[in-house]
Amino acid sequence: MRVGSLLACAALAVTTGCRDTASPSMSTTPPTTPPAAAAAVRDPHSAARPEEARVTHVALDLAADFAAKTLAGTATLTIARTGSAPTLVLDTADLAILKVTDALGRTLPHALGARDAILGQPLTITLTPDVTKVVVEYRTSPHAAALQWLSPSQTAGRKQPYLFSQGEAILTRSWLPTQDSPAIRQTYEAQITVPAPLVAVMSAERLTPDGVPLPDGRRRFEFRLTHPIPPYLIAIAIGDLAVRPISARTAVVAEPSVVDRAAAEFVDLEKMVAAAEALYGPYRWGRYDVLVMPPSFPFGGMENPMLTFATPTILAGDRSLTSLIAHELAHSWSGNLVTNATWNDFWLNEGFTVYFELRIMEALYGPERMAMLEVLGRQELAEEIAGLGAGSKDTHLRLSLAGRNPDDGMTTVAYDKGAALLRLIEQVVGRAKFDAWLRSWFGRRAFTSATTDDFVADLRANLLGNDAALEARINLPAWLDAPGIPPNATQPAAAAFDRVDAAVTHFAAGTPASQLDTRGWVTQQWLRFLTRLPDHVTMAQLTDLDRAFGFSKSGNSEILFAWLRMAIRHRYQPAMPALEQFLTSQGRRKFLRPLYDDLMKTSWGPAVARRVYQQARPTYHAVSVATIDTIVK
Ligand code: BES
Ligand code: ZN
Repeated sequence: MRVGSLLACAALAVTTGCRDTASPSMSTTPPTTPPAAAAAVRDPHSAARPEEARVTHVALDLAADFAAKTLAGTATLTIARTGSAPTLVLDTADLAILKVTDALGRTLPHALGARDAILGQPLTITLTPDVTKVVVEYRTSPHAAALQWLSPSQTAGRKQPYLFSQGEAILTRSWLPTQDSPAIRQTYEAQITVPAPLVAVMSAERLTPDGVPLPDGRRRFEFRLTHPIPPYLIAIAIGDLAVRPISARTAVVAEPSVVDRAAAEFVDLEKMVAAAEALYGPYRWGRYDVLVMPPSFPFGGMENPMLTFATPTILAGDRSLTSLIAHELAHSWSGNLVTNATWNDFWLNEGFTVYFELRIMEALYGPERMAMLEVLGRQELAEEIAGLGAGSKDTHLRLSLAGRNPDDGMTTVAYDKGAALLRLIEQVVGRAKFDAWLRSWFGRRAFTSATTDDFVADLRANLLGNDAALEARINLPAWLDAPGIPPNATQPAAAAFDRVDAAVTHFAAGTPASQLDTRGWVTQQWLRFLTRLPDHVTMAQLTDLDRAFGFSKSGNSEILFAWLRMAIRHRYQPAMPALEQFLTSQGRRKFLRPLYDDLMKTSWGPAVARRVYQQARPTYHAVSVATIDTIVK
């Protein structure tokens, strides 16, 4: 570590995620300084030079223009500087920078650098000696990658337009100029002006829930988040929104026509928060609300602080898909309190969160529900690894994403291989000790960002006691820096799947669907069934299944998805209208990608895929479009 960066980090210690880049990987030195005082790690996905000048607070004053599809106004950035560092470097993408001044309105010279297709354009601002606040006047592009502007017809209510942002991984720079690195934590506040009938919500405290009416008929909403977060968690949604409280600190937010259904689906929200707290310590963010998104939301969920964004495709009517909410809630600890320092450490966010999600589901619904979810996750992991190739570096937990779009390396490996490593450690040291360590990890490192090396050092210092024999049973290098699933992985099993596997065997041997013993099956058992059916099934068998169980008409998106994959594989024509309907009525990438992929692999499917995609593409989010464009050609 250079002395300069040491000083820089000491000076900025309060809220930095400063880390030591020079420490060799798998270092055995326990942390001797509090996490926030270590030195800066280089983030390959940000142009920022936080060791010179770093953003500590963002104040937004923006107006939404639905006709122009722009957010416009100012971002006032508070900065911490090292000595007299002459420049502040921000990340931007497709922003029109109109003016840069100090807090007194004095112009500061600025320059946009060369545009990188993945990273966007650095904005370099020349600072005068005493400047600690920079005001950037700007406007977003109608094509800002983080923003989706929906026409009324793309919403549930069909009367009002809708806007939402999606920041992870490196998209926040397309709607506000800041240092867009997960190791550069920032507090924020915002004033958002919207057309009168609409409501704005953000990943922050809502200071004016009903908005402040303005003389011109518009309304202004104010927000504040006093906890420092990485910029990918700054989020906004604007639409015709209603709120239904679940408990004193939890609520569901959605369009009026969806909100009651959503509140019924998420009745256990408070119980989930309480279960999570009982496991790993207090919920640190005040309220926990869930915003149910329009159908084009490209993800299942996004853990925006205080306000998880969730796909409406989990509204199954029977609460069977709520593990997704447990997942996003768990991020309030793993990810939002302790954040991956770079996208190469993505598994620290997602692997910890899947493990935590499983523990919440176990606490609420019992070990069998958890076991089924864990087995299904491992199934998906095995398929993902097979697809990536057994030797692929993208199957390491520690990723190498420099020079690539971080999205490209974000697979279920981070999720399920990451969770499997934590499960193994739990088994090796015992649950009580592991839970105590995990609770202390979140406590000691709250509001900081961590690297994979930090994880290793902390584990050694605070859990394994530098006991080499104990550590050998885990074999961290095999998990972190080698491909595939290491041989010492635990083998989760779910007794509830034994019945399912027996039914699959009977069906394969010729038993009619109606005579299979499926009484009392829950969603996860149906998913096991659909993903375990033999490769060779006849058209008559598919017809029999569909008639007996009504899969093509299923209102459960996960069951329908698993069935549609079967239908494509075997060209089961009667399901094609349901397939088209599914592909054109929601935009969740997890569903779209495999279905279009499967279609393109058949002789007859590409024509269908092209026709459906041409129709649906304008309704999908840019994140999904970017992925499906590489599949459907
Ligand atoms: N943080 C992720 C979503 C994400 C990851 C967005 C990477 C952009 C880049 C979120 O917590 C997540 O993992 N969502 C999953 C659902 C979850 C239950 C596995 C999803 O969207 O499918
Ligand atoms: Zn997640």
